[in-house]
Amino acid sequence: MLQGKIIALGVTGGIAAYKAAEVASRLKKLGADVHCVMTKSATEFITPLTLRTITSNPVTIEMFQEPKIWNVEHIGLADAIDAYLVAPATANIIGKVANGIADDFLSTTIMATKAPVIFAPAMNVNMLENPFYTENIDKLTHHGYRFIEPAVGMLACGYAGKGKLEDPEKIVEQLCEMLCTEQDLVGKKVLVTAGPTMESIDPVRYITNHSSGKMGYQVAEQAARRGAEVVLVSGRTSLPVPYGVTRIDSGSALDMFEKVKKEFSSADIVIKSAAVADYRPKKAADKKIKKKEGDVQILLERNPDILAYLGEHKGQKVLVGFAAETHDLKENACNKVRNKNLDFIVANDILEEGSGFQGDTNKVTFYFADEREVKLPMLSKKEVAGKILDEVVLLSNQRPL
Ligand code: PMT
Repeated sequence: MLQGKIIALGVTGGIAAYKAAEVASRLKKLGADVHCVMTKSATEFITPLTLRTITSNPVTIEMFQEPKIWNVEHIGLADAIDAYLVAPATANIIGKVANGIADDFLSTTIMATKAPVIFAPAMNVNMLENPFYTENIDKLTHHGYRFIEPAVGMLACGYAGKGKLEDPEKIVEQLCEMLCTEQDLVGKKVLVTAGPTMESIDPVRYITNHSSGKMGYQVAEQAARRGAEVVLVSGRTSLPVPYGVTRIDSGSALDMFEKVKKEFSSADIVIKSAAVADYRPKKAADKKIKKKEGDVQILLERNPDILAYLGEHKGQKVLVGFAAETHDLKENACNKVRNKNLDFIVANDILEEGSGFQGDTNKVTFYFADEREVKLPMLSKKEVAGKILDEVVLLSNQRPL
């Protein structure tokens, strides 16, 4: 799979550095020519000899070390590689690259390369949540650097939480996937909505729906993998934020509307998979409604149609809606394409087995503004997300710059 690929493996100084040996070994077994670059602190955790023996290539640490292979040291390496994987990546190297600092061989070669750079961070959970770190991640993601999300578990520092270096097998798997994934959304901002809305009846109760957010989260994740800057406005779900995606939490349809409007003007592409309530209680009670004899009626009023608003203000943006239908799929979906001024709609029959809410699969048909239709078989939600983005890329390439 990696036959003939030249991979630079950057190793920085954290306890997970010892796992770099397994990463190097797996890359080598897949046919890659692996060249390790270590920071000085990494050598405190694992010896260069280990990595040299595994990769059969010299390991570079010092900026002014005697070159063994590379013609012009850092530039030679930076030019030759197909990808730069940094595993483990400390907060320090991420901070340096995010701020344009090149003060050793590793940071210099990262700055000098045009190849994709992929960080597999590993650090203490509090460092991972530090706002400087998250700002650095946002900045790097915006510029096309990619990340392999750290795992959750027992950390060497004694904390339990997120921050463990992802399993070497999964790091290599994700690297292979990334190298084969076309970066066709670089420079685009994609706004995705996902999950349900919640409309308050009183401080205890609310009206919602069955959306788990899985469909929209897959769209967001795949768009980020293809190089887009992704903002995900999400109703309540239990899903983790996909790496490289900025999530903005929302509650009611009105709240989602406000948050979507804020992000809309700077977006190039909008994909609205959220299940938005068409109605909300006309007046949410400020105290818990106590039960009494007989029936209770809740008067509902219309929510704004967020997608229709976006359609009115669409300009050159690519606008994709979803349609959750139980009958007359084509007719209802095509009406939405017209009424909401969409480029296309992703229609799913939520009563069909393996389709719609909650599950990991979906069976959808795309209906386009130009009356084309593309019917897909049942696929995983990840695959459906990929197909949606394929169409989005085609449409966006037709738009004037
Ligand atoms: O989240 P999952 O469990 O993975 O399930 C996925 C899904 C079934 C939620 C998803 O595939 C889906 O169909 N999403 C759209 C749900 C929906 O609200 O459909 P709709 O036909 O009612 O709305 C049509 C479109 O208008 C949607 O893009 C919706 O986001 C938008 N809308 C609807 C009402 C409203 N007031 N404002 C809107 O923007």
